[in-house]
Amino acid sequence: MQLPKRVKIVEVGPRDGLQNESSQIPTEVKIEFINRLADAGLKSIEATSFVSPKWVPQMADNSRVMAGIGRRAGVSFPVLVPNLLGLEAALAAGATEVALFASASESFSRKNINCSIAESLERFSPLIQAAVRHGVKVRGYVSCVLGCPYEGGVAAAAVAEVAQSLFELGCYEISLGDTIGVGTPSKAQEMITSVAENVPMDRLAVHFHDTYGQALANILAALQMGIGVVDSAAAGLGGCPYARGASGNVASEDLLYMLNGLGIETGVDLGRLVEAGEYITGYLGRGSGSRVARAISCRGA
Ligand code: HMG
Ligand code: MG
Repeated sequence: MQLPKRVKIVEVGPRDGLQNESSQIPTEVKIEFINRLADAGLKSIEATSFVSPKWVPQMADNSRVMAGIGRRAGVSFPVLVPNLLGLEAALAAGATEVALFASASESFSRKNINCSIAESLERFSPLIQAAVRHGVKVRGYVSCVLGCPYEGGVAAAAVAEVAQSLFELGCYEISLGDTIGVGTPSKAQEMITSVAENVPMDRLAVHFHDTYGQALANILAALQMGIGVVDSAAAGLGGCPYARGASGNVASEDLLYMLNGLGIETGVDLGRLVEAGEYITGYLGRGSGSRVARAISCRGA
């Protein structure tokens, strides 16, 4: 089994994890959650998004979140931006990394960002140029890489095409999103094989939602192909407001437990990560979506 020695975990809990919460979470709670994730050793923590507050009200406090978090050397706090307006606001808030998001499915693109795939790529071109001029790193997402809530199956070739466009426009890393968590390991590998014909493997990341309980299996299949960057959310929080039925991201605690068991380095402390997850689920008043966190909490209780 060919596995990477080290994996970078991109923690998306504060953004993907919380964006779908219906009642407004206090900004201080978000800030404390992010600080605890950084204390656990995570080096990339997606903090918020600079999207329209009419579309995603939960992220309306984006600038205050960015102002409140404890910045520290070696830790990146990327934020989502859909357009130049979002980029300008992100820059004003001191973002040093942004992530833009395209889709491999036309219908999802329309529902999520109100434009076609081609229009989104046209919109991203000046955005990436402006970000790079400001010394800001740009990550790119492709959504619906293994299925779309509106169209069903999505061709691997369509994913590869959008991933290539984002890469050629200047994204340093492309995160492949199974937005509705329908993928299985062999489908994931076929899709990654197709994308890797257009984008180098070491520039790819995977982003699995765990709707059908396949996320860890899919991640292992991706690691075996040489993928070294994995997105996850503490406590398995998450869901996209424009993907009905989409449940949480793979839980960071479950991912870390698996990586630890495989002897893969991450620099993240499991105990502190579990505590960060407990902090946010404690606020939300619900149990953790991480089986590892539940097992550890039971054992410690
Ligand atoms: P639109 O309505 O077409 O935008 O939305 P518009 O340019 O026509 O502007 C309409 C209004 O929005 C204007 O205000 C703009 O100023 C304002 P008004 O004049 O009506 O008062 N506006 C903004 N305000 C703040 N920040 C901005 C911004 N842009 C416009 N950046 C738009 C187009 C892209 C803005 C909208 O569709 C949007 O915000 N979509 C975001 C949806 C979203 O955040 N989805 C979740 C994230 S994606 C995801 O979760 C998937 C991922 O996790 C990977 C995976 O799992 O696959 C990444
Ligand atoms: Mg997502």
